[in-house]
Amino acid sequence: MTSSSTTLSLVDTDPAELAVDAIVIGVHSQTTGPDATSGPAGTLLLADGAESIAAAFDGKLTATLALLGATGGPGEVIKLATLGTVTAPLVVAVGLGPEPTGAAPAPETLRRAAGAAVRALAGAPRVALSLPLPDDADAPAALRAVAEGALLGGYRFAGYKTKPQPTRREPVAEVLIAVPDAADATARAEVDRATAVAGAVRTSRDWVNTAPNELRPPAFAEAVATAARAAGLDVEVLDEEQLRAGGYGGITAVGQGSEAPPRLVKLTWTPQGGTNGKRVALVGKGITFDTGGISIKPAQGMWEMKSDMAGAAAVGAAMLAIAALKPAVAVTGYLPMAENMPSGTSYRPGDVVTMFNGKRVEVLNTDAEGRMILGDAMARACADGTDYLFETSTLTGGQVIALGKRISGVMGTPELCERVKVAGDTVGEPAWPMPLPDDVRKGMDSDVADISQVNAGMDRAGHMLQGGVFLREFVTDDVAWAHIDIAGPGYHSGEPTGYWTKGGTGVPVRTLVQLVEDVAANG
Ligand code: BES
Ligand code: MN
Ligand code: ZN
Repeated sequence: MTSSSTTLSLVDTDPAELAVDAIVIGVHSQTTGPDATSGPAGTLLLADGAESIAAAFDGKLTATLALLGATGGPGEVIKLATLGTVTAPLVVAVGLGPEPTGAAPAPETLRRAAGAAVRALAGAPRVALSLPLPDDADAPAALRAVAEGALLGGYRFAGYKTKPQPTRREPVAEVLIAVPDAADATARAEVDRATAVAGAVRTSRDWVNTAPNELRPPAFAEAVATAARAAGLDVEVLDEEQLRAGGYGGITAVGQGSEAPPRLVKLTWTPQGGTNGKRVALVGKGITFDTGGISIKPAQGMWEMKSDMAGAAAVGAAMLAIAALKPAVAVTGYLPMAENMPSGTSYRPGDVVTMFNGKRVEVLNTDAEGRMILGDAMARACADGTDYLFETSTLTGGQVIALGKRISGVMGTPELCERVKVAGDTVGEPAWPMPLPDDVRKGMDSDVADISQVNAGMDRAGHMLQGGVFLREFVTDDVAWAHIDIAGPGYHSGEPTGYWTKGGTGVPVRTLVQLVEDVAANG
């Protein structure tokens, strides 16, 4: 089940003369001082890019938009029929918030605005965006943001309805972005990059949004392997027998309760030219459905646990983007997959499991299944050899309590956590470093095994940190690592906003790609 696609191109002709179904311009809210040229004090200011449209409206555009209720607030979308003033039949003003002093809007502001506008324009086949783009060194980042926002706001999951939906409007098929020079090589490269990266984000959203009965581990592994082979990556899939024989105790323990057996998918990108010699491992949690197992979850909201493979979806999708972007660094993705079910063959509280690295884990709560499959996959990544290990997972409800639905929690080697934060800020996927306290580790001492899977007294204090502290046991000392808990940001259950649609968000695909490019460039 895949979404329809949106294509991107650049234009440098006058936006007022573009033969499109709608032309999108930006408006700022203006809180201080009168604006003599374009509107009443304290209201609206047209953003750069709107000049020729404003001219066609004979100076009446700002006042008309204000009359229609425009305030320039972030995410606001106001549509205005042009009645022949410009070629496009519709002008759409998207709010950009207050005008930043002496600079173009931040990339994330542009990304969200482009997303909101393209989303609101579903039903219009061809749309042009004439948003404020700086003409200095910040130009590529701004263009990248607009392009990504447009492609992600234009995403819609195909869904499963058997009847055609007459009132449902098709996502925008074609987006033109107005730039100073459409032939500029840097600008064209940004469009290509955005197409690859946003395409990967859309693929990860599709995987997350797919119904969990259609994406049990064998099917998920097959879908990822097929896409990865088509992208030119090396693919290895371990099945249940191979996992058992290979000593992957955590993956097999979680997987044994389901009729649909577990998998470990390994995807490898080998750069063709020279590299700086660094190796990167990406690991993602692929629980295709998390019932909690014997420690079963309550019914309310359990359906959202179809998103418990968002980490694996992000890693698989990031690898597809990497195959397209061809960074000069070796990258391997590890996607452990299992379905966490209660049954007569399930693993149980009290079980002791021997993990891939030989450590023994006492199971106290079968709902802490993510760390079991991740421990194996991370240990395997270290055994294969890597310099940096980035792992991402919908690991703990504690992440949502601590940081909310937008900001991921990061734990691991302090310098690498900081690097994840910087990468996240750059791409608009915020992440916040959290500690790995000794007392939290102490609380996980087991009477019988090397470590308990959670606090030995089932104390939920520092819940997110327990996850990080546990995973640290599966990383060798020579590897810098970071665990990115995306329990909140991986899935959006609210109304669409900016370039986020309902369901899978694709977080942290863009962070992972940014990190890989960062390592390729800076070691
Ligand atoms: N997949 C869940 C975490 C989760 C919760 C993700 C909410 C997204 C939204 C994870 O496997 C889980 O069940 N965690 C438990 C851990 C506990 C049993 C130690 C939790 O967070 O309550
Ligand atoms: Mn769970
Ligand atoms: Zn889970």
